[in-house]
Amino acid sequence: MKVLAVASEAYPLVKTGGLADVVGALPRALAAHGVGTTTLLPGYPAVLKATAGRAIHSWRDLLGGGAARLLRGEIDGQPLIVLDAPSFFVREGGPYGDQTGSDWPDNWRRFAALARAAAEIGRGGVKGLSFDVLHAHDWQAALAPAYLRYAASPIKTVMTIHNIAFQGRFGAEIFDELGLPEDAWSIDGVEYYGGVGFLKAGLQAADAITTVSPTYAREILRPEFGMGLEGLIAERAGSVTGIVNGIDPAVWNPEGDAALPSRYTLKTVARRPKNKRALEREFGLEPGDGPIFTVISRLTWQKGMDVLAECVDDLVRMGGRLAMLGAGDPDLEEAFLTAAARHPGRVGVRIGYDEPLSHLLQGGADAIVIPSRFEPCGLTQLYGLAYGCVSVVARTGGLADTVIDANIAALDAQVATGIQFEGVSREALLHALQRACALYADQPSWRCLQRCGMKADFTWGRSAAAYAALYQGLVDA
Ligand code: ADP
Ligand code: GLC
Repeated sequence: MKVLAVASEAYPLVKTGGLADVVGALPRALAAHGVGTTTLLPGYPAVLKATAGRAIHSWRDLLGGGAARLLRGEIDGQPLIVLDAPSFFVREGGPYGDQTGSDWPDNWRRFAALARAAAEIGRGGVKGLSFDVLHAHDWQAALAPAYLRYAASPIKTVMTIHNIAFQGRFGAEIFDELGLPEDAWSIDGVEYYGGVGFLKAGLQAADAITTVSPTYAREILRPEFGMGLEGLIAERAGSVTGIVNGIDPAVWNPEGDAALPSRYTLKTVARRPKNKRALEREFGLEPGDGPIFTVISRLTWQKGMDVLAECVDDLVRMGGRLAMLGAGDPDLEEAFLTAAARHPGRVGVRIGYDEPLSHLLQGGADAIVIPSRFEPCGLTQLYGLAYGCVSVVARTGGLADTVIDANIAALDAQVATGIQFEGVSREALLHALQRACALYADQPSWRCLQRCGMKADFTWGRSAAAYAALYQGLVDA
């Protein structure tokens, strides 16, 4: 089975969030199930560094962006193809926007070009390359199944929704520039509320749709989660599957984690407090016995960070401390920096993106707080489980599917792995934080939560098997 995965980011070459972790880890996990994955990425400067050798295909002009080529490369020992289109991808800034964080105005053209190149490979237009399945991730890759549909290509296609809030919606005027046939401009094509919808188009065209947890697959049937696409998801319900993300033990494993001053396993978890001391120093927290809560997150409304900001004073009053790593909405950044100034030694905030520091937080903090209003899967709770950093999560999406709430029955049965709360409000989050503090004060119960989490298997095995079976089913159909 040969799969072409198409995405706008992949760890370790380019990452802004969980999408990169998934696209980076899945190929190695799939290899164990007889699936060979080649990943197609845009040629950002960091990605071009991973390529070598000559071009395997070229365009004189790709979708109005001038000359472009496909280069072979490698990502973590797995095959990579890079779309080298300098006018689109060699820019100062991030994958989606400039240094100030504003989206590039031609993002539609940049990612239509990525999809166009993917479709060219998928339909067999690049000598020496053939695939059974094209797997598109999120809106940036979503036009690929659409291009293939109108090219009447036999390759099977899978569209994965990592976050339905990001849909790639653009004005109707771009349609003529996409190189799609006239009849693609229709309600069952790419037209979406009078404009062009990239994700919508991919969801219409793909043979199978997946999202990153079973609960989110059900939630997006409702308007408050489906965000305009709930009707389409309902129509295609028979083709929608929820497959929960896994974690890559080569990257997230406290036993061999180079970012931890003190490495540990389930058996040697007593070595963990040394990391807590390092974390206190790193975040300027006064040393203490009380729980340290951490947050490693985009600071946005989705993540419920406005509600957490309202709870910081109470968290401190309860005897907790907070170590936060994140970046996002300027208002939220400001709110947390102000909270840190109000509570010196109790609240430490680092605005920015720092991969090693995120490992230290998982390996040293006592609990990770994830009050998301919606969360398709979420990876930081999975890293928390593996690192004995107990998750305090809203009961939504993948958070609902991966954390077992410490209710009386689960505590009695010694299967609880964290704390869940219902509805993202100040009251609900405060109550969850109180429960966490009470459980922390009862150290045998807390250690039980930690150990159960560390024993849970959220490596990719089961989920990679589910993707492999999905691909096989499409090819056999
Ligand atoms: P999302 O993709 O919605 O942002 P996930 O929980 O799926 O949420 O994935 C977030 C990923 O990004 C995780 O790997 C997390 O550790 C990482 N991350 C988020 N914010 C930061 C940050 N400020 N510094 C380092 N890593 C971060
Ligand atoms: C998105 C979602 C997140 C998920 C990630 C990887 O960024 O917001 O919940 O874990 O994709 O699938």
